[in-house]
Amino acid sequence: MKSQIIQQGAEAIIYKVNNKIVKNRTKKSYRIPELDKKIRKSRTKSEAKIIEKLKKIINVPKLIITDLVNHNIHMQYIQGQKLSEHLEKLNWKEISKQIGEILTKLHNQEIIHGDLTTSNMIYVENNNSNNINSQISQATHNKAKKSLNIINDNIKSNNSKLFLIDFGLGFHSKKIEDKAVDLHLLKQALNAKHYKIADKCFKIIIKNYKPNQYKLIIERIPIIESRGRYKKKH
Ligand SMILES: Nc1ncnc2c1ncn2[C@@H]1O[C@H](COP(=O)(O)OP(=O)(O)O)[C@@H](O)[C@H]1O
Ligand SMILES: [Mg+2]
Repeated sequence: MKSQIIQQGAEAIIYKVNNKIVKNRTKKSYRIPELDKKIRKSRTKSEAKIIEKLKKIINVPKLIITDLVNHNIHMQYIQGQKLSEHLEKLNWKEISKQIGEILTKLHNQEIIHGDLTTSNMIYVENNNSNNINSQISQATHNKAKKSLNIINDNIKSNNSKLFLIDFGLGFHSKKIEDKAVDLHLLKQALNAKHYKIADKCFKIIIKNYKPNQYKLIIERIPIIESRGRYKKKH
């Protein structure tokens, strides 16, 4: 069995085992042991429940096993490009549009992601697109390259998929405030990690974000921002 640690976060260790991901919630020695077990169990359960609920609605990894005794979730490994590392090099306008559409569906299910950053988004380009990519690199004439590039963009936008992962901080809520905070955190994450394109990305995301009550949600964002500034000053 080939096992490799992918990430060791504050709350969990992520292993890749063969073609699976195992997310293991680790022990926290600063918590009372009994409480620690309870928290790890309930977060594992809640993350698995949200993934299961979302599988029919958006692209999320397939759940394989939920092991509440060992606080593990086994899920499908998504082979793709993590947006935190690749967004600028990819078709970020199309991807931003997809983010807006995904968040529409998520919030219409009254689910808040809780940690909307580009580290929790994986882009999977379809195979046809990969084939064309190799043709583009082989094409000698600029004209041929140009037309292949146009075909490629169309294929990508039609068939490529954006996966949302990491529902460890996810929860159910109908509140305008919670949905607006989700967007606000995404905006902050874009500004921090992708500052050159952040404004444009966020505009496209909002343009494609159309859940119930979207006007109220969007109007709440500057209010949340101004509260943040107030907190810093005082
Ligand atoms: N299903 C998956 N497929 C591919 N990579 C994954 C998957 N789940 C997690 N990862 C990788 O592991 C990292 C951490 O996993 P995540 O669930 O976000 O845990 P954390 O709560 O520590 O952020 C992700 O940023 C991603 O690189
Ligand atoms: Mg994460």
